[in-house]
Amino acid sequence: MTQTLDGTVLVTGGAGYIGSHTVRALRAAGRDVVVYDSLELGRREAVVDAPIVVGDIRDNDLVTATCNEHGVTQLVHFAAYKAVGESMETPSKYWRNNVAGSVELIEACLASGVNHVVFSSSCSVNGTPEVVPVTETAPIRPESVYAESKAMVERILHWYGQTSDLRSVSLRYFNAAGASFDGRIGEDWTHSQNLVPLAMKALLLRDRRLKVFGTDYDTPDGTCIRDYIHVADLADAHVKALEYLGTGGDTVAVNVGTGVGSSVLDVLDETARAAGEQVPYDIAPRRAGDPVSTYADPAFAEKTLGWKAQHDLAAIVDSAYAWHKSQLNDDR
Ligand code: WQD
Repeated sequence: MTQTLDGTVLVTGGAGYIGSHTVRALRAAGRDVVVYDSLELGRREAVVDAPIVVGDIRDNDLVTATCNEHGVTQLVHFAAYKAVGESMETPSKYWRNNVAGSVELIEACLASGVNHVVFSSSCSVNGTPEVVPVTETAPIRPESVYAESKAMVERILHWYGQTSDLRSVSLRYFNAAGASFDGRIGEDWTHSQNLVPLAMKALLLRDRRLKVFGTDYDTPDGTCIRDYIHVADLADAHVKALEYLGTGGDTVAVNVGTGVGSSVLDVLDETARAAGEQVPYDIAPRRAGDPVSTYADPAFAEKTLGWKAQHDLAAIVDSAYAWHKSQLNDDR
């Protein structure tokens, strides 16, 4: 088991947002890392202090060669498409890359002797939760092709656990946000449709106004509630999940959230505090598919992985604001 934890970690999608923060957390924990990324969505400059192999997760030969050359013993698998709306317009991309690609990757890793996998899953596998906070026993009811692709890979990993010596941890992320505290890496807002980067854009670029999708929900301030979790806390959950597997842990799915629900207007209030000015926004109609409220019950994560979020919404917004402001200056 010690040998497993001494070996190199293969991080697919390590040039992406959560992936790049996880690479840094693994390096800080003393783990050797090799990043495997197609760079279709990831950015090479986001990879700090680790080699990168540019390739597709369906390329069996390249994955196998990478595992053998770098002495890989564990896998963290981020590489996936994650645009909910796009997944409903072009589902085949999601079945071929997110699902079939994951199978090809797992097969190549297993053949190379890698049998510990930490998988990037999502709270969206539960769809609109009937009960909050959301526990790991909540019904699996995906409401998009994207969410279904995550639920399917979770089940595929379960069956690999039944038919081989592969063991896995599927981490169900809630709303990832924020940037590294040293300002070195952060979220690329170019294609993001998520609230925090779009609020920062409206604040810093001044050429647009944020749309708040609905203020008539049955919540204290009428806007939807989510569990915003700092990307550094998410990264730490991956380090702990690898340690859990390396010391004999069985296959599980774990919710990774703070357990605290924040509304859209809470996020905008925090952003105004951080920036010293209001985010320009207009009220717009509800967005289809938005659950009214979802936030995690973090008890199982703490019990199983010994992990608990350390940062609150203020820390998330402060780090996001500092990052996007710094990028603005760099872009000028
Ligand atoms: C948050 C809230 C919007 C944009 C995300 C990821 C998804 C999954 C779960 C990982 C909602 C509101 C947003 C805007 C707004 N994570 N909003 N105006 O939909 O909760 O899902 O976390 O797999 O992949 O996307 O995140 O940031 O889009 O929305 O009012 O311009 O902000 O209605 O209430 P969401 P989000």
